[in-house]
Amino acid sequence: MALIAPSILSADLSQLAQQIRLVEMGGADWIHCDIMDGHFVPNITFGPVLVKAVRKVTKLPVDVHLMIENPDNYLEDFKQAGADHLLVHQEEVIHLNRTINKIKELGMKAGVVINPATPVSTLEDIAEYIDILLIMSVNPGFGGQSFIQNSFRKIREAVNLRKNYKAKFKIEIDGGIDSDTILPALKAGVDVFVSGSAIFKSDNITAATTQLKNLVQ
Ligand code: DX5
Ligand code: ZN
Repeated sequence: MALIAPSILSADLSQLAQQIRLVEMGGADWIHCDIMDGHFVPNITFGPVLVKAVRKVTKLPVDVHLMIENPDNYLEDFKQAGADHLLVHQEEVIHLNRTINKIKELGMKAGVVINPATPVSTLEDIAEYIDILLIMSVNPGFGGQSFIQNSFRKIREAVNLRKNYKAKFKIEIDGGIDSDTILPALKAGVDVFVSGSAIFKSDNITAATTQLKNLVQ
């Protein structure tokens, strides 16, 4: 059964608790938080303070996607804030094995994220150690962008990587997921779907969540 992880990047943050309640009622499985620092990506969002606020209003796993420079400096802060999953970018972390171990030692699930131009093959030597592989299907930084088509091939490559290395990670996809792209992505092998604008910019947030959820059941 595939999972839905609404991204609060596109939510109305002045009504955070209520917006999270709406996606919970629609059947959301995780809450996805996009942390951007204006350096790794050309946008600035929020940090541990907001993750702490999310933690306060939901019991769902909080999935934290770090799009920041030097993420190693902030692992403890996000643990303290209540993150359940911490995902770091392959392009930013030099000692990925060390960082993944640290995240797990802190008691969180550890994920690696790859940008659209980063090959899945770069993860061969980390595959067996990670809990989540997040494939970016847009260039990170903003919600509401179009799904990059070669992501389907990358999903299939991730499925093969998992099999060939006897790994157990979930395959998560992030960017441009809506009622059109979700089914081919499911067919290619995705386990977890991040969706921002298709859910929070819709007229009925609960119904939009349920619609995506039903499509992947
Ligand atoms: C983009 C973020 C995404 C974003 C997805 O950098 O990582 O999580 O919220 O938004 P949509 O679903 O609108 O593409
Ligand atoms: Zn994200």
